[in-house]
Amino acid sequence: MVVFENKAIPKLLLVCLFVQFSVSAANFFQPFNVTYDHRALIIDGKRRMLISGGIHYPRATPQMWPDLIAKSKEGGADVIESYTFWNGHEPVRGQYNFEGRFDLVKFVKLVGDNGLYFLLRIGPYVCAEWNFGGFPVWLRDIPGIEFRTDNEPFKREMQRFVTKIVDLMLEEKLFSWQGGPIILLQIENEYGNMEGSYGQKGKEYVRWAANMALGLGAGVPWVMCKQTDAPGDIIDTCNNYYCDGYKPNSPNKPTIWTENWDGWYTSWGGRLPHRPVEDLAFAVARFFQRGGSLMNYYMYFGGTNFGRTSGGPFYITSYDYDAPIDEYGLRSEPKWGHLKDLHAAIKLCERALVAADSPQYMKLGPRQEAHVYWENTQSAVLNTTLSESQSACSAFLANIDEHNTATVIFRGKSYSLPPWSVSILPDCSNVAFNTAKVGAQTSVKLVENALSPKISAPELVMTKNEVSSISESWMSVEEPIGIWSESNFTVQGLLEHLKVTKDESDYLWHMTRIYVSDDDVAFWEENKVSPTLVIDSMRDVLRIFINGELIGSVSGHWVKVLQPVQFQQGYSDLMLLSQTVGLQVGLKGEFQKIFTIEENEKAGWTNLKLDATPSTFTWYKAYFDSPDGSEPIAIDLGSMGKGQAWVNGHHIGRYWNLTAPKDGCPDSCDYRGAYGSNKCMTNCGKPTQTWYHVPRSWLQASNNLLVIFEEIGGNPFEISVKSRVPRILCAQMSESYYPPLREWLHLDLIDGKVSISDMKPQIHLQCEDGHIISSIEFASYGTPHGSCQNFSNGNCHSPNSLSVVSEACVGRNSCSVEVSNAGFGSDPCRGVLKTLAVEARCVSTSTIGVSQF
Ligand SMILES: *[C@@H]1O[C@H](CO)[C@@H](O)[C@H](O)[C@H]1NC(C)=O
Ligand SMILES: *[C@@H]1O[C@H](CO)[C@@H](O)[C@H](O)[C@H]1NC(C)=O
Ligand SMILES: *[C@@H]1O[C@H](CO)[C@@H](O)[C@H](O)[C@H]1NC(C)=O
Ligand SMILES: *[C@@H]1O[C@H](CO)[C@@H](O)[C@H](O)[C@H]1NC(C)=O
Ligand SMILES: *[C@@H]1O[C@H](CO)[C@@H](O)[C@H](O)[C@H]1NC(C)=O
Repeated sequence: MVVFENKAIPKLLLVCLFVQFSVSAANFFQPFNVTYDHRALIIDGKRRMLISGGIHYPRATPQMWPDLIAKSKEGGADVIESYTFWNGHEPVRGQYNFEGRFDLVKFVKLVGDNGLYFLLRIGPYVCAEWNFGGFPVWLRDIPGIEFRTDNEPFKREMQRFVTKIVDLMLEEKLFSWQGGPIILLQIENEYGNMEGSYGQKGKEYVRWAANMALGLGAGVPWVMCKQTDAPGDIIDTCNNYYCDGYKPNSPNKPTIWTENWDGWYTSWGGRLPHRPVEDLAFAVARFFQRGGSLMNYYMYFGGTNFGRTSGGPFYITSYDYDAPIDEYGLRSEPKWGHLKDLHAAIKLCERALVAADSPQYMKLGPRQEAHVYWENTQSAVLNTTLSESQSACSAFLANIDEHNTATVIFRGKSYSLPPWSVSILPDCSNVAFNTAKVGAQTSVKLVENALSPKISAPELVMTKNEVSSISESWMSVEEPIGIWSESNFTVQGLLEHLKVTKDESDYLWHMTRIYVSDDDVAFWEENKVSPTLVIDSMRDVLRIFINGELIGSVSGHWVKVLQPVQFQQGYSDLMLLSQTVGLQVGLKGEFQKIFTIEENEKAGWTNLKLDATPSTFTWYKAYFDSPDGSEPIAIDLGSMGKGQAWVNGHHIGRYWNLTAPKDGCPDSCDYRGAYGSNKCMTNCGKPTQTWYHVPRSWLQASNNLLVIFEEIGGNPFEISVKSRVPRILCAQMSESYYPPLREWLHLDLIDGKVSISDMKPQIHLQCEDGHIISSIEFASYGTPHGSCQNFSNGNCHSPNSLSVVSEACVGRNSCSVEVSNAGFGSDPCRGVLKTLAVEARCVSTSTIGVSQF
């Protein structure tokens, strides 16, 4: 029995959230070597089928890492993958930063502590929608440098950084043969896309990069992705939405998929991409079906482009990527759960997958095929001395028809395959999983989209304690328009932006003074013309002021600016015009660091009136208390225009209120057929991003300083701070569905102890950590109708439904309910296929009282 009371309780369950993994220099594994053959990586002498999850460490905080890694492992990952971020690690040449979000050693050690392997993609050009692809801006100033080609100054700098990283990993004993988790490294990144444009020098550069990498003594294999001419021992790997059928450039190299794009990135003013999990699971299953051996999700957790780290043009602050773990570190369902079930099914096949040198191919229909993996060759199986039952056999049955379900006969049994799907048969007989049948729970966060939860955009659902208002008293200070200090300088002509700012600020003031005579004015009037400011090419945003008044704004990527301007007779100050131009890097408020706790008082803040008209180029500040609980925090900047925001001096990123086009989002998302980033878009007609992640660890309980620099206007009084958590879980499964696969995730083999045919389907519900199921809103075992948040009873309904599910689930963080007559006491309607549908509500254990459960 469960009783809820409205008083605070010991925060028992929260403890698990804050478990710190000890970071030690001790070995994580017994030392092991990594080699490879044509079939797979060979880890400690054994071929392995590996699932990898991409997590970019600086896109989260170190406080988030343990939970992200644990959720990856729980979801079935064997490996964690990350790029390195050169400009984060070496912001000034020779001055290294491996602290905080850039503490690579700590991140790799946490992965090892969890018993997972590591794939480190050094690059050092990484693209990654990261600022400048990871190159430090000072690299541009090295005399004679030409990037990513056979250029001595570039190669010298690249070798220095790659050596630095490899040496650091060696020192910390993080390679497999030292007892560390690193099993694989990457040099360069998708250079094959570029190589042609560098001609012969490009080819020489690839050879040099390969030899340089191999010469560093890392002792584990290296890959190059999208590099069909990867030399020698370097494994060329695939990056794409689908990589089944990919063949490396040598019959001695295994098939590796370094980037499985499970979503996509977004620009300001763009729609939100969504890749349906049925298609993603199809792609993964097809990869392993057709001989693949290591697959990495790009991204398993995408995270946030904090500060000014997002690349361009115009990439938003969120790097959610529609990944299985969302930007805030919460499971994105049903993606996370369905992939977990998929990984369990693949793991059940691993023994046969690694044993066979290649699959046996069988055509089952015009667009249907099977690949069968035998532990022993089939001729051996047919030999009477070895019966089939003693030999592991696993099969993948695919229906690549985009429209129709197909019924196929495989080894004498009939199987129904939904369109665009793969069934996985770990024992060559029973279906353990089909990629198109999602048995995983759905977590609903947006009521409007409840009918199509699979394409629902992230939303926040709050209880009242979880909303924290910002103090009513906002203060503001105006940023001066134009050059604001002595540290300006004068040049002939215009200088390139980055050359001046060195990327220390987004902003660069240009100013010139021009003189307009009576004659000029008369000429314009007489000829009915007005002067126009012309700039041949600019990016990304330009604002034009005359005498301190904003007269125009332009944004775009390499666009021509044609801005009509009006001048009075006499002197006028104009931003950006030739002749004598004064330049100044950055804003005064940035220079004074008025966003920090220590320095913010230095600015001349004045109280902002509630009815103040929105002003441009203004700094705002206010204080807020943290919402209760341990859930991730988001700040709603939907009432603001464009700018940047800081919390307690931490730069939470750029914000902008550009709105996605009204059209281009389907009413429902059809998973069938090849995916592209324009398919299944969401969020049409809404601002691309209004919620901004503020990591809990950047907050204190009360009096958090929020500082905003706003360029175009907006209403700070509407800003709010909220905590984010999925509140409603739904799941639906029929009695003919799948065995409880996820429970087998950590079993390697079907070793006689597990028999798929004996297992009964189960519904599995799981709230986020620190949350429990408070109530079952709906449960029906029978023939329920509707979908999440709109279920209703059908003609057949077991009267025990609610009590059975409540008994099993209420008061628990997670629960399983068997979908069978036995589970519900009796058969509510003979001869009818029965389904269990459940809707449950989760609450935080810190906002309710739990006296017993
Ligand atoms: C790894 O390989 C090296 C070179 O072949 C060998 O000396 C070493 O003993 C191996 N280590 C392990 C743990 O197998
Ligand atoms: C069958 O097994 C026997 C005994 O192990 C062996 O001599 C024979 O070569 C095998 N035949 C085939 C076709 O593998
Ligand atoms: C720019 O710097 C010069 C000195 O270098 C100074 O005289 C001038 O006042 C500065 N301009 C502004 C607008 O502060
Ligand atoms: C963005 O914010 C600015 C300043 O408040 C406002 O003028 C503009 O209408 C907003 N744009 C959208 C699409 O909401
Ligand atoms: C709820 O489901 C029923 C069918 O079961 C449907 O007719 C109705 O439109 C749905 N309502 C909503 C609000 O989705």
